[in-house]
Amino acid sequence: HRPNFQMEESSALSQANCRAKGGAPGFKVAILGAAGGIGQPLAMLMKMNPLVSVLHLYDVVNSPGVTADISHMDTGAVPQLENALAGMDLVIIPAGVPRKPGMTRDDLNPVNSTVPIAAEVFKKAGTYDPKRLLGVTMLDVVRANTFVAEVLGLDPREVDVPVVGGHSGVTILPLLSQVKPPCSFTPEETAYLTNRIQNGGTEVVEAKAGTGSATLSMAYAAVKFADACLRGLRGDAGVIECAFVASQVTELPLFASKAQLGRTGAEEVFQLGPLN
Ligand code: LMR
Repeated sequence: HRPNFQMEESSALSQANCRAKGGAPGFKVAILGAAGGIGQPLAMLMKMNPLVSVLHLYDVVNSPGVTADISHMDTGAVPQLENALAGMDLVIIPAGVPRKPGMTRDDLNPVNSTVPIAAEVFKKAGTYDPKRLLGVTMLDVVRANTFVAEVLGLDPREVDVPVVGGHSGVTILPLLSQVKPPCSFTPEETAYLTNRIQNGGTEVVEAKAGTGSATLSMAYAAVKFADACLRGLRGDAGVIECAFVASQVTELPLFASKAQLGRTGAEEVFQLGPLN
């Protein structure tokens, strides 16, 4: 027997309704460097973010492959290849090279260098808006939350450690005296935690033994930060994260510290508060 393809009027109507919904509301996000070790998991996690309606993936190689792969995920964001920057609400740039054993972070140009370079490029183009250019230092916060939670025997999701300064060696400064929930550390714990947070990248480089540096935790951190940016752009109140941003907190023009993220970017950059 051939199946009966005749539709009842009501089911035809419900199909018409279900097809007529149109594009999901949400933000347009571009990832430059989407085919790399960080870019691929970052693209996957952004495709899963319900705030994203369009995801533009760009790289110098293999963008079509990554876009095709990601496009089969049954989530809302629609991946696109062309016009990577036109009309974007948020552009995330994870492009770079992995660190090899023996190299320092300086060999990679961390955000301490790339954000000032990007600022100069925007200035030259006459489009620099200091509130909208943010270096992602969230990986240091993510590591600090994890390592502090381990020491305190807490769930890392309950822990919040501000990390200020930059993202290179001693410029990564965890504010252990401002940990939430409030707690205190012995001098040994403080030394252990500071050293482990500052050298988290090296820990991964050594464990990967010549095959690369942190990619998965970096992608996770970037997505956590990107999600905060999107919530700020949506107008949510009280979105506060550490970022490497134009600042008057110290004598340095750019400095990582807590900033309030809103519709116009980093709307307020907070003072460091009491330090021990
Ligand atoms: C990290 O902190 O993991 C990155 O800066 C990459 C690296 O090799 O340190």
